[in-house]
Order: sequence, then structure tokens, then C-alpha cells
Amino acid sequence: MYRMARYIELFFLIFTSVQSLSQGQSWWLLGLKSHVFQTWSKVGIIGPSIQSLCNQLEGLSQGQTKLCHLYQDHMYPISTGAKSGIEECQYQFSERRWNCSTVDGQSVFGNVMTIASREKAFTYAISAAGVVNAISRACREGELANCGCSRALRPTDLNRDWLWGGCGDNVDYGYRFTKEFVDMKENERIPPKASAEHGIMKMNLHNNEAGRKAVLSMADVMCKCHGVSGSCSMKTCWLQLANFRDVGNELKERYDGAAEIRRNRRGEIKLVDSRFNNPTAFDLVYLDPSPDYCIYDPSTGSLGTVGRLCNKTSMGMDGCNLMCCGRGYNTFQQEVVERCHCKFHWCCYVKCKRCKKIVDMHICK
Ligand SMILES: *[C@@H]1O[C@H](CO)[C@@H](O)[C@H](O)[C@H]1NC(C)=O
Ligand SMILES: *[C@@H]1O[C@H](CO)[C@@H](O)[C@H](O)[C@H]1NC(C)=O
Repeated sequence: MYRMARYIELFFLIFTSVQSLSQGQSWWLLGLKSHVFQTWSKVGIIGPSIQSLCNQLEGLSQGQTKLCHLYQDHMYPISTGAKSGIEECQYQFSERRWNCSTVDGQSVFGNVMTIASREKAFTYAISAAGVVNAISRACREGELANCGCSRALRPTDLNRDWLWGGCGDNVDYGYRFTKEFVDMKENERIPPKASAEHGIMKMNLHNNEAGRKAVLSMADVMCKCHGVSGSCSMKTCWLQLANFRDVGNELKERYDGAAEIRRNRRGEIKLVDSRFNNPTAFDLVYLDPSPDYCIYDPSTGSLGTVGRLCNKTSMGMDGCNLMCCGRGYNTFQQEVVERCHCKFHWCCYVKCKRCKKIVDMHICK
């Protein structure tokens, strides 16, 4: 009876979300609907009636729908990976004019993605990274039928007395599966070599790879002590994913240093300025300059910065001058609550009072 109820809930969730398919659809949409997949993974769906669920999912390309059939248990980690990619993007860009906001509808990031810009590069990289992260962890947690703990070889420089063999994050599998799933959309329909679409395809593939590579390269050895009363005479070590925040920081740096590329007639992508070294697999690349995102412009997906908070004293992108694009700002006062009069108590905690304070806030005209 309980199972039945879960099924009904699931069908309800999926079928009520079906809309007509449009061009701008993306698998990122799964990230906005991860609650659907949570139900899915809990119910443990099998059987032909469920196969049709993959067909009903919005945002998947044909090939991705096939992968959905084959790897149903992967759909929940894919959706949580996409979700953490979107959230990390919003964190990293919270103080910039383009703040990675999502829009209603299937394209997730809206018309911003119609320009082959740095911002597009970042979203591709961070979402691919999110999926590698989530799949690698799901393997380790035993949630997927096709993979388990990492089978990475013992690092040669690991202390000889330490054990290699804890259950590690399976970044190898996470990388390979994500390559198949995320790149699928680009690889399905290969545009003619001389076309603009071909250049965009190359750019997307490059940035997907940069995102995957960031997670792969930042995974590191983690160890735990054993031994009599914390003597640490013995250690067990395994491979562990980096904090996803650190991956976000790394990719944000790659965004700041992204390389402008162009496509040539043979369909290859080349650096615009040949004085620089060619971008590595870790670098982000983009084809088109970004709009300044200063004013509302639906055609470029720019929301504009009217009404955005800015920092009067900052010289950075969050400073009122840059954020408001020289239009000036309005100031108002707001009450904020903060921790104050903190005292250290023996032993060992800190107790604070809550104080109210009036602060000046500035918003762009
Ligand atoms: C992002 O920017 C838009 C438009 O400028 C604004 O409405 C929204 O509140 C911002 N989001 C965050 C999280 O700051
Ligand atoms: C504003 O910017 C200054 C200088 O960068 C910084 O010290 C301050 O903490 C910022 N204020 C807020 C509210 O973010």
C-alpha cells in the first residue's frame, strides 16, 4: 500500500511537470527537480511502466534518455550533482552583475546561454563537476549497481606503514560516466565543420572536460588514525573528493583566466591571441565577449542591476560603482542582528549575545 502511494506521488510529480519541449532545454533542469528523483531512488523502480518515465523527463536529449533507461539509479545523483553545480555557481557569482540566477522554463539559465561567453563556459564546467562529484560519492556509498569503492592504486609516495584500502570516492567511475552522460548532448548531432555550431560544440566539450578534470585532480588521499588510545601507530588511507566549495573556487579562478578562442575553417578551435600558450584541459574557453549585464535585456538574458545591493567601499565587482554601472545608488537603513559580547566559557564553548545594529545599505539605481 505504501509502495503504491509512492508510485502515485511519483507519477504525479513527473507528469504534472511535462511541458512542450523546446530548443533551449538542458539536463540542468534535473537539478531543479531533484526531489522527483529522490522519490524515484527510494521506491527503487523497475519494470516497463517505469521505462516510460525516462521518456517523459524534460531536459534530456535522445541519447541521455537512453542512458536514463540503462542507468536509472544514476538519475538521482545526476540531479543532485546538477543542483549543487547551480548552487555553487550562484555562490561564486553572488557579488557580480551576472549572478547565475535561474529562470522559469527549460533552459535553466535563460537566454544568457545563447551567447558563447565566459559565463556559459563556467556553467558547463561547474555542472559537469557537480555530476562527477555526486556520482563518485554515490559509488562509495553503495547506491549504484555499477560501481563501488574506488579502485585507485596505492599512491607510490604513501608511507609504507600505512594501509591503503579504506572505501574511497570512485572518481574514476564518476569521471567516465559523466563524460558519457554530459557530453552526450554535444556528441549526438555533430554540426558541419565550418558552422558556428561546431565551434560552440567544441567549446562546450572543452569546458565540460575542464569541470570534470577539476574534480578528478583535486581528489586527494585521506587517512584515519588507529592504534591504542589515539596513538596513531596505524593509519588507513583512501581517496577522497575535495570539498565542492574548493572545486568551485578553482573553477572561478579558471573563469577569471578563461581563454578567448575562435574557430578556423577546419572546425578546430584556436586561441585568439597566439602569444599565449594554448589552453590546457583544465582551462575554460569561450568564443564570444560577454554583455556587460548592466541593463535589462531579454534577448541576452541580462536581468540588469537595478535594485541590486552593492558595497560602497569595495573596489571590486560588488562595489557600487561597478555594480551599478555608473548609474549611482540609493541608500537606506536596515536593522541587522549580529553576535556580540562573546565570552569564552571554561571549558569549552563561546557564548554570545545578539545585538541589533542599524547599517546603511545601498542599492543600484
Ligand atoms: C540576482 O540578480 C537579480 C537581478 O539583478 C536579482 O533579482 C536577484 O535577487 C539576484 N539574486 C541574488 C541571489 O542576489
Ligand atoms: C565592503 O567592502 C569592504 C572592502 O572590500 C569590506 O571590508 C566590507 O566587509 C564589505 N562590506 C560588506 C557588507 O560586504
